[in-house]
Amino acid sequence: MTSIRQPSLGFGLGARPDHYEDLLNDHRGSVAWLEALTENYLVPGGRPVHYLERLRNHYPIVLHGVSLSIGSTDSLDLEYLHGVKTLADRYEAAWVSDHLCWTGVDGINVHDLLPMPFTESAVRHVVQRIGQVQELLGRRLLIENVSSYLSFIGDEMPEWEFLREVAERADCLLLLDVNNIYVSSVNHGFDPLAYLRGIPIERVQQFHLAGHSNLGRYLIDTHDAPVAEPVWQLFRSAVERFGQVSTMIERDGNIPALPELLTELDRARSIATTAEAA
Ligand SMILES: [Fe+2]
Repeated sequence: MTSIRQPSLGFGLGARPDHYEDLLNDHRGSVAWLEALTENYLVPGGRPVHYLERLRNHYPIVLHGVSLSIGSTDSLDLEYLHGVKTLADRYEAAWVSDHLCWTGVDGINVHDLLPMPFTESAVRHVVQRIGQVQELLGRRLLIENVSSYLSFIGDEMPEWEFLREVAERADCLLLLDVNNIYVSSVNHGFDPLAYLRGIPIERVQQFHLAGHSNLGRYLIDTHDAPVAEPVWQLFRSAVERFGQVSTMIERDGNIPALPELLTELDRARSIATTAEAA
């Protein structure tokens, strides 16, 4: 199948308020692109929008949301989706992503990215909803694998097969979070390389890298620490399989000064270069 994914934008970061000024001044151009958290910019005016407009003058922007709740049985929030479309058009977002999860039901939002049951009926449900979203946005959506700490008794397939079925039948793209794959592989005891092998190459348009917390029996996806060694190793395997894919580091807690994240991003760059050459 011909690849439908866009060529790699290179190495980017999540745009965080702590780094706005550095990204515009002392470290302008230090990353190839920025990922903006959709929900922070939906309300017109104010400081975040002011900065996003300035950042957009220097960087390609992609939008990453947490509120779509594509897996829920509640109706899609059309007002939210229209807001996302307006934002994407306004900033000429290179792409729009959200998570393959549900965040609530019956109008209750738990603000958590809850895992899906990996069943055929859930595939059909999500495929139909992604179709609605893509029609409204006028573009393919990227969906991201979430980390999880439980699985459902009724699961009918492994996570990677669920992700592949959804991506191919909805004709959408994938944001593979390498840390989430690793975290879930430890929590559920599966082989993360089998996960990578199960994902169709031509649909992977973005990678996330992030840190997690080790609680002994479980790993928790906390985004508050540097990327862990096994995740770097898995990232190397991911590049070997998927080639050059737009890659970024997500950091949401204990946010260090920008140069520290740039050093981490240098490591991603160097792994990707040597992995592809191998
Ligand atoms: Fe992620």
